[in-house]
Amino acid sequence: MKRMAGLLLMFGLCLSAVAADADLRAVLADPAARQAAAEAGRKAAFFCVNCHGENGVSKLPEVPNLAGQNPAYLLEQIRKFGAGQRRDEFMQGLIKVLKEEERLQIAVFYAGQTPPPGQQEASQIAAGRLLYDKLCARCHGSAAHGSEVIPRLAGQHVEYLVTAVTRYRDRTGERLDPAMSSAVAPLKNADIKAVAAYLNSLP
Ligand code: HEC
Ligand code: HEC
Repeated sequence: MKRMAGLLLMFGLCLSAVAADADLRAVLADPAARQAAAEAGRKAAFFCVNCHGENGVSKLPEVPNLAGQNPAYLLEQIRKFGAGQRRDEFMQGLIKVLKEEERLQIAVFYAGQTPPPGQQEASQIAAGRLLYDKLCARCHGSAAHGSEVIPRLAGQHVEYLVTAVTRYRDRTGERLDPAMSSAVAPLKNADIKAVAAYLNSLP
């Protein structure tokens, strides 16, 4: 019986993810709807600004920039926090107060902003680029702009990137993605720092 309830819950979560994707696609395809969603999203994001910064560019190194992030990825991460499939004390609590509609509007709003590239040492950039091109570009793209379900990494904070990659590599449980964990398995700590510096420097 318990197993059955679990399966039904999983099925329900999948269905709501599929419906959210279809809604998002419809909004993105219509310029007027997109603009209206972005404006509503800016308002709905009024308390996200405290940590994620004005226009999604965060001043806190451990808090990710949301500016320019792919909207389907943002929506999926919000869903994951809500479902407990991604773990962070603050985010899991905060996401609960958002209505489904607000989640979508916030994702559209942040996706339309631009993160500024950071300044990094040339030697770190060069070392990081070699690793990135070899191990990461096939999924995250040559310019690290990602795609629908793959996150943009260009211009992201170094500290946040290092934490995220280390968590996937060491399978600590905050973030679950087997493909990411295998992809970053070969990286030493120094490699992770170099890749993060390279990514931060990208526009
Ligand atoms: C108290 C600070 C704080 C507030 C307020 C906050 N966040 Fe976050 N957010 C974080 C931190 C820290 C992380 C990174 C968690 C991790 O390391 O996995 C994060 C991660 C995220 C991510 C994942 C980004 C990525 O690149 O994977 C999304 C999406 C997000 N937040 C959306 C929101 C939204 C929407 C709001 C407002 C409703 C909000 N956050 C409010 C601290 C905050
Ligand atoms: C097989 C495809 C694939 C490869 C190869 C890959 N990634 Fe990923 N990456 C993903 C996916 C999918 C996600 C989102 C996973 C999730 O939902 O937690 C992700 C997430 C991330 C995140 C979290 C971003 C954020 O905003 O929180 C970072 C950082 C990252 N990848 C870095 C890398 C680096 C560095 C490499 C190369 C060493 C790499 N990835 C290789 C598919 C890949």
